[in-house]
Amino acid sequence: MDVALWMEESRSTIDQWIEADFPGQPDGSQSIEAAMRYSLLAGGKRLRPQLVLASGAYLGIVPKRLRPACLAVEYLHTYSLIHDDLPSMDNDDWRRGMATSHKVFGEALAILAGDALLTEAFAKMSELVTLGFSPPKVVSATQLLAHRAGRRGLVQGQVLDLAAENRDISVDALQEIHRLKTAALIEACVAIPAVLVGDRQSEEALLHYGRYFGLAFQMVDDILNVVGDATELGKATGTDAGLGKATYPRLVGMERAQAVLWQYEKEALTRLDIARGPLLSGLLTFAMDRKW
Ligand code: IPE
Ligand code: IPE
Ligand code: MG
Ligand code: MG
Repeated sequence: MDVALWMEESRSTIDQWIEADFPGQPDGSQSIEAAMRYSLLAGGKRLRPQLVLASGAYLGIVPKRLRPACLAVEYLHTYSLIHDDLPSMDNDDWRRGMATSHKVFGEALAILAGDALLTEAFAKMSELVTLGFSPPKVVSATQLLAHRAGRRGLVQGQVLDLAAENRDISVDALQEIHRLKTAALIEACVAIPAVLVGDRQSEEALLHYGRYFGLAFQMVDDILNVVGDATELGKATGTDAGLGKATYPRLVGMERAQAVLWQYEKEALTRLDIARGPLLSGLLTFAMDRKW
């Protein structure tokens, strides 16, 4: 299987699914719909829904049955980016190659667009019952997403990330921030399909994969903030240093960061049955080698 081709095709399918939910052209209005559409259609790698589909392929679930879950994780992720960029958080002007939401729509509408996307994510999860998954399994998958996104997951990661600015923290504390702010949602992406079909053994293996994928992904994000190209990334570089963010490059240096990254990459695959398909390992390779 050609993983690069699969990535291109799945990205375009996901884009079409999003466009079907948010039809219409940018009309310059300051409406909540316009603000949501703006950030969703600004682009983005669509890696989280791709992880849902790759996990689905691993478990033998066809893509169209996972459409609501794909949309849920992308909406939730996009909310987290809009809020992450706010002046009170990372204060960024560029995202996905475009001006950030608050720059275009003002802070109030940006906050509300994030709120609405987060709300929409859970409405999407509930649609899974129409695709032949049993209601109790849909409830479990929804709880998993809520748990990974909320006060013991992504939100807590963001709280700790902000609290660590301009402070010396340990490498363990940094890893915990990355686990929460980034890996938690990625764990949910790959575990949701397993929960939906009640495959406990695969769920454990996929959660392990998601954790190390997420840690590696955030490590690369931090490295690219130092050595990446802003145009290619679609967001500014050098900003972590400017904000005094705790990052691996700052804490342990580039060389050691690279070595830890390779450890994560290896660890991610240890519990998977790789013979069941190349997509999960292909996505991991992409995440490691990416320039954007
Ligand atoms: C950026 O995520 C935020 C992090 C957790 C590092 P992505 O790099 O996946 O952003 P998009 O979706 O492609 O814009
Ligand atoms: C993003 O972390 C994590 C979430 C949005 C939950 P960063 O702040 O490091 O990501 P970028 O570099 O702005 O995309
Ligand atoms: Mg941040
Ligand atoms: Mg940020």
